[in-house]
Amino acid sequence: MTIIRGATTIAHDEITEIREAVRELLVQIENTNGLKRDEILSIVFSSTSDIHSYYPAKAAREAGFETASLFSAMEPEINGGLKLCIRVMLFVEKNIAVHHVYLREAKALRKDISQKMNVAIDGPAGSGKSTIAKRLAEDYKILYLDTGAMYRACALQAVNSGINVESESALYDLMSNLPLDIVYQNGKQITLLDGKDVSDQIREPRISMAASTVSKHKCVRMKMVEKQREIARETSCVLDGRDIGTYVLPDADFKFFLTASADVRAKRRYLELKEKGHDVDYDELKAEIVKRDEQDANREFAPLKQASDAVFIDTSDMTIEEVVAAIKSKIQERI
Ligand code: DC
Repeated sequence: MTIIRGATTIAHDEITEIREAVRELLVQIENTNGLKRDEILSIVFSSTSDIHSYYPAKAAREAGFETASLFSAMEPEINGGLKLCIRVMLFVEKNIAVHHVYLREAKALRKDISQKMNVAIDGPAGSGKSTIAKRLAEDYKILYLDTGAMYRACALQAVNSGINVESESALYDLMSNLPLDIVYQNGKQITLLDGKDVSDQIREPRISMAASTVSKHKCVRMKMVEKQREIARETSCVLDGRDIGTYVLPDADFKFFLTASADVRAKRRYLELKEKGHDVDYDELKAEIVKRDEQDANREFAPLKQASDAVFIDTSDMTIEEVVAAIKSKIQERI
């Protein structure tokens, strides 16, 4: 027996909306879990007390769920809970890997029952960390903190000031007065140096290697880690980086380590940079990525490493959707 959960929301308490939302939710649960309709033994619905106009169970029957036994219940009104929400639990005959499905406003974490949570996503360049972390944060409506952007900003400041990125003492001075701010506009992380938006500049290939080099230095890491911990202490967030699960937040609620073959990672970065109008050479990019991996993984202090309690995912042959679904499934098991 397998039990699958899901939820969705409607905009208005109207029969047509309830019918459509229930149909969409059940069909997505069937598709993402590869279910045949007659494998579903029973479907239990609960809906928030602001839904009066129709039973979700009736909508399910009309949507063609003919053999499962159905049940609908009404939830008590909970302060701060989602509005106009329909939740579902499916009991399935066979044993399968579960993919719970949350749609529309129900994608967000339940503020009424969820604790603050931190999700750590580590991995090498191009493993898909930032795309996945952004998607998770967007869906759960929590903050995304790109810690790589912080090291990139240090590197940009060092390069612009003509500082040798290998020199610990020069970087120490730079760090004591670094005018770095991380702000959010419409949920997007903006990196400011001296009040100037440098979010695009820090992505330039010339800054990537310099970021890896400045990040070797303890004085740089201590400063950045302090800022990262401060943000994570106060708010639920998804953080991506190299050392989040091992050093920055060893007690993070959820830890994932993403990787992919060097070829796949180089290809992803190549397409990303091309799209932004950068003139890049694939072979050079791949060589840089391999060199950066080596430097990040072999530095003395807080190197790139999988935490022993992190879930390992090789994204080489996976789509973004598949990785997001795999991660959410793990998170959903525990919230
Ligand atoms: O994730 P990214 O490619 O933007 O990161 C740029 C560099 O910053 C990376 O090569 C190593 C360093 N970094 C780090 O040392 N620790 C982190 N948590 C994030 C990035």
